[in-house]
Amino acid sequence: MAGTGILLVLFLFAHMAGNLKIFVGAEAFDHYAHWLRDLGTPLLPHTWYLWLQRGGLTAAVLAHIFAAVVLARRARAARPVRYAHRPRVQGSYAARTMRWGGVIILLFVVFHILDLTTGTVNPVGDRQHPYANVVADFAPGRWYVTLFYALAIVAIGFHLRHGIFSALRTLGQQSPRGERTARAVALVLSLVLVVGYLSVPFAVLTGLVS
Ligand code: HEM
Repeated sequence: MAGTGILLVLFLFAHMAGNLKIFVGAEAFDHYAHWLRDLGTPLLPHTWYLWLQRGGLTAAVLAHIFAAVVLARRARAARPVRYAHRPRVQGSYAARTMRWGGVIILLFVVFHILDLTTGTVNPVGDRQHPYANVVADFAPGRWYVTLFYALAIVAIGFHLRHGIFSALRTLGQQSPRGERTARAVALVLSLVLVVGYLSVPFAVLTGLVS
């Protein structure tokens, strides 16, 4: 759970940094997207690195879900008789919503790929010009798309807040002081990601990027 989660978080940081290039301008953003396809050349043929990354990410997501199912089954097996009385509040909001948060993120990623990678549900859908796709996507008239992205990104923030904390625990953090530090690290990293990701649709919505 922790190993695959860390890989996915690394992707999220790299992707966010790439997205922020939109503030540099259309040319820089489109150039970056084309560079992604050339990454690894001449050692690897054109787009091979991209496909390796896609394969790696898909494997990480599948392994992450598999680990979640195994852990949930193990927890159920450890307590085959259900609690007669279960206190309603157990753990933080982030911890209690991991399962549904994961499902929402998965649905978001499917929509997002159809939107900004294949262009199927994007009003422009020009694979050569991702800047134009992003600007068309979050135009004020399509506020509901921005709202959907915003909700999904906030769900990702909650999922990561608990996920990063749990991963640090798996990696050996044990003391009460370490726990406080792990909570703070998880909160700060999640906030940085949420703000970084949200900045793009809101910059388009408010006309800062056009
Ligand atoms: C508002 C925030 C986001 C924006 C503006 C954005 C933008 C983009 C763009 C423009 C592409 C296409 C890149 C290209 O064709 O070269 C892309 C691809 C992708 N994005 Fe995002 N993204 C955002 C959030 C996210 C989040 C939160 C996730 C993960 C949970 C994510 C996962 C992906 C994936 C998996 C791809 C496909 C990469 C590939 O082609 O293999 N994105 N995104």
